[in-house]
Amino acid sequence: MVQIQPFLGTLQKLKRKTIRALFHYDPSYSDMFLDKSEFYFARLYLHQMEPYLSRLEEGARILDAGCQAGRFTVPLGKMGFQMTAIDSSPLSLARAREHCKEFGVQAEFIRGDIGNVCDRLPPTDSFDLILCTEVLYLHRHFESLMDTLLRVLKPGGLLITSHRTKLYYLTKALLRKDFQAARLIVTHREGSLWGTYFNWQTVEELRELHSRLGLQTEGICPIGIFSEILLAPGDMEPPLQDQLFEIEKDPFDEVTGCTRYLLAVGKKISTSHSDLS
Ligand SMILES: C[S@@+](CC[C@H](N)C(=O)[O-])C[C@H]1O[C@@H](n2cnc3c(N)ncnc32)[C@H](O)[C@@H]1O
Repeated sequence: MVQIQPFLGTLQKLKRKTIRALFHYDPSYSDMFLDKSEFYFARLYLHQMEPYLSRLEEGARILDAGCQAGRFTVPLGKMGFQMTAIDSSPLSLARAREHCKEFGVQAEFIRGDIGNVCDRLPPTDSFDLILCTEVLYLHRHFESLMDTLLRVLKPGGLLITSHRTKLYYLTKALLRKDFQAARLIVTHREGSLWGTYFNWQTVEELRELHSRLGLQTEGICPIGIFSEILLAPGDMEPPLQDQLFEIEKDPFDEVTGCTRYLLAVGKKISTSHSDLS
């Protein structure tokens, strides 16, 4: 029998994408700069990134690869860094521009695919730090995308990426009582889930990934231990949210790797494959 449901779903997605691209409008769009839970997660990210950001000189160049609405472009720009932000979504770039303007942040915005844009940039046009958060789990070729990012990272520069974990997806599947999906997650580190590509990594795999890419691992830290999985920080009053933040901001040895995201920080120490080709 012909499966009509997935076809209708794809058609619906295509229609939404077209309206988004043409009119910069989508009522279902979630602006990560404005979303209360995402704002809380941004606090966790910035807390974990602080020791690395404090190593940079004022005015250092940062690339926000896959910036969406500028959840990091704005605060990092406010700290005095020179920001370049890339996103393939015109609606997201329009939002990021608006938020930067609102906060008096100057940034360069580039619309396009991160890989293509970085391939086109001359290697001399390089960055002191590249941030690529909550993007790589969407990409089957995430390793080669990271390699492309390294082309435009200065030697000694930092690549900061975030990655999904097995526990995150497993919890999502179990909460839906979708045991078939749960089984898939247990047995596969990538695949297709609820119509979308997924991948997850362990702490050890991230270290190995760094080593293959010529990066020295500087840190791997949790972003959300109980939040989203057990609690929605966006639904909490600020004082309660602050208390959750205090609990979540430091790594727990007991749950290493079992978090919402893992933030991986690598320092470029050697020439990557793409530099050699
Ligand atoms: C989940 S959002 C994360 C946004 C932002 N990094 C943050 O953490 O707030 C992912 C964003 O990456 C963008 N994106 C994903 N893959 C991309 C690619 N290959 N090239 C350009 N943008 C991409 C999407 O359009 C979306 O805006």
